[in-house]
Amino acid sequence: MKHETLIPSAPILIESTRSIGYSFETAVADVVDNSISKHADNIFIYFDSNIPQYLVILDDGCGMDSNELIEAMKYGSKSSIEEREIDDLGRFGLGLKMASLSQCRKLTVISKKYNEISGAVWDLDHIIFTNNWELILLEEDEIRQIRYFNKLDSFKSGTLVLWENFDRIAKEEANHQKIFDGKITLTREHLSLVFHRYISENNINIYFNNDIIQPTDPFFTHHSATQKLEEENRIVNGNVIKIRPYILPYISKLKTEERNQIYGKKGIKLNQGFYIYRNKRLIIWGTWFRLTTYNELKQLARIRIDIPNTMDSLWEIDIKKSTASLPESIKNELKIIVKKSIFRSENVYKYRGRNIKHDNITHLWNIVEERDKKIRYTINKDHNLYKSVFEHLDDEGKDIFQTFVESIESFFPYKDVYVRLSKEQECIETNSIEDDKIYRACRDYIETITADEKLEFLNNLEKNELIMHRNDIINKLKEDFKDE
Ligand SMILES: Nc1ncnc2c1ncn2[C@@H]1O[C@H](COP(=O)(O)OP(=O)(O)O)[C@@H](O)[C@H]1O
Ligand SMILES: [Mg+2]
Repeated sequence: MKHETLIPSAPILIESTRSIGYSFETAVADVVDNSISKHADNIFIYFDSNIPQYLVILDDGCGMDSNELIEAMKYGSKSSIEEREIDDLGRFGLGLKMASLSQCRKLTVISKKYNEISGAVWDLDHIIFTNNWELILLEEDEIRQIRYFNKLDSFKSGTLVLWENFDRIAKEEANHQKIFDGKITLTREHLSLVFHRYISENNINIYFNNDIIQPTDPFFTHHSATQKLEEENRIVNGNVIKIRPYILPYISKLKTEERNQIYGKKGIKLNQGFYIYRNKRLIIWGTWFRLTTYNELKQLARIRIDIPNTMDSLWEIDIKKSTASLPESIKNELKIIVKKSIFRSENVYKYRGRNIKHDNITHLWNIVEERDKKIRYTINKDHNLYKSVFEHLDDEGKDIFQTFVESIESFFPYKDVYVRLSKEQECIETNSIEDDKIYRACRDYIETITADEKLEFLNNLEKNELIMHRNDIINKLKEDFKDE
C-alpha cells in the first residue's frame, strides 16, 4: 500500500469556512470566549465605522508567547477530543480564525507574555496570492504600528485581535457606516446577554469604545416578583447538570426599562424556554427543544440549565457554539420539570384577579376579586380615556403615569368610604365633567385607533360609563364619523 499526502487548497478551504454561519455578534462572542478562558478581567472592544473600518478586541488575559501564538493561529490548534481546562470556553481549536475571517479578510493577532511581544496575520489576499497556508509574522516595529498596541503594552500580559477589511459589509454597497454601527449595537446587546453571568458574578468588564456594558439577566433574578424555583441536579454520564426554573414577573408589574430588559431590546428576542449555559456562558436560549409547545400562558417560564464543557459531544455543541440538542437521557426528566414550572407560569397568568362586574358597561373602575376572595378596585386600563392618555406619553411619562394610577388604586380610601356610607352620609355621584372636554377626549382617542376599533367604540358609546346618557356627545360623535 502506498500513501499520498493531500494538502487542501488553502484559498478554497478558507473561503468555504467563511460561510459556516457566524453572524457578526456570534463571531465577536467567540473571540471574547478566548479572552475569558485565558483569565482576562477586562476586555476592550474598539471600533470605528468610518472607512477604513476596524474592530479591535483587546484583553488583559495571560497572553501567548511566539510559539503559542503560531499554534493558536493554526486551523485546529487544539482538538475537540483533548481534555480542556474546566473553565475553557473553546471547542475545536477553530474559533479565533473562523469567527474572525467569517467577517473580515484580514486578522491580526498581537500577544504579550513575559515581556515578549509577537504578532501574526492571516490575510486572505496573501493566501490567494501565494496559494498556500502562509501566515505572516510581524516584526517588532510592525507590531508597534498596530492600533491600540500601546494599550496592550500597558498590561503585564494580554492579547489584541484586530479585524480589518470587512468585505461582507462592502458587498452591501451604500451605508457601510450605518450597517457597521447596526452590527455593533447588536453585538453589544448580544455580549451583555451571553456573558451576563461573567459580568455580574466574575467581575469581568467588557467595554465598547471605553463604555462599560451592563449585564442582561434573562431571569430578572433581582426583581422581587421573580419566582425562583428549586434548583435540581441530574447526573448524566458522570457530569452534573443543574436545572433551575424561573417564573418571571407579570408584565404589568414592570417598568418600561425593565420590560425592555426582560423581553429583549430591539435586536435580540428573549423567549420562554430553556436557557442553556456552557460554563456560565449562555449558548442557546428561548427554545423548548420540542418538549412542549409555545404559548402565551408559558410566556413567563424560563428554565436555566448549566452544563460543563465536558459534555460537548453529548449535547452536540457546534463550532459556533450556537446550536445544541438535548441528550436523550435527560429528556424525560426535563419534561417533568418543564411541566411543573409551566404550571407555575400559568398560575401567574391566570390569577391576576377576576373582574366581577358583569353589566356590559365600560366602567372606569373595575372591581377585582383576588384568589383569597378579597376585593380590590382598579382603574380600567382598557377605558378609552386611560388609553388615550397613555398613548400621548413617552416611555418615562408612561412609567410615571402607571405609578400614579397604581398609587390611586393602592390608596383608595376603602375604610373611609365604608364608615361614611354606613353612617348614611351622602356621596356626590354626578359626572360634572363638561361635555366639550369629554367630546374632545373621545375624538382624540378615535384618531389613535384602527378602523375596526373605531367602529366598536362608536357602537358602544351608550355603554361607556363616561359618555352614557350624554346624548349630545353621542350624536355628535356618530355624526362626525358616520362616513368613515
Ligand atoms: N485572547 C487569547 N489569549 C490567550 N490565548 C488565546 C487567546 N485567543 C486564543 N488563544 C489561544 O489560541 C487557541 C485557539 O483558539 P481558538 O481558535 O478560538 O480555538 P479554541 O478556543 O477552540 O481552542 C486557544 O486554545 C488559546 O490557547
Ligand atoms: Mg475559542
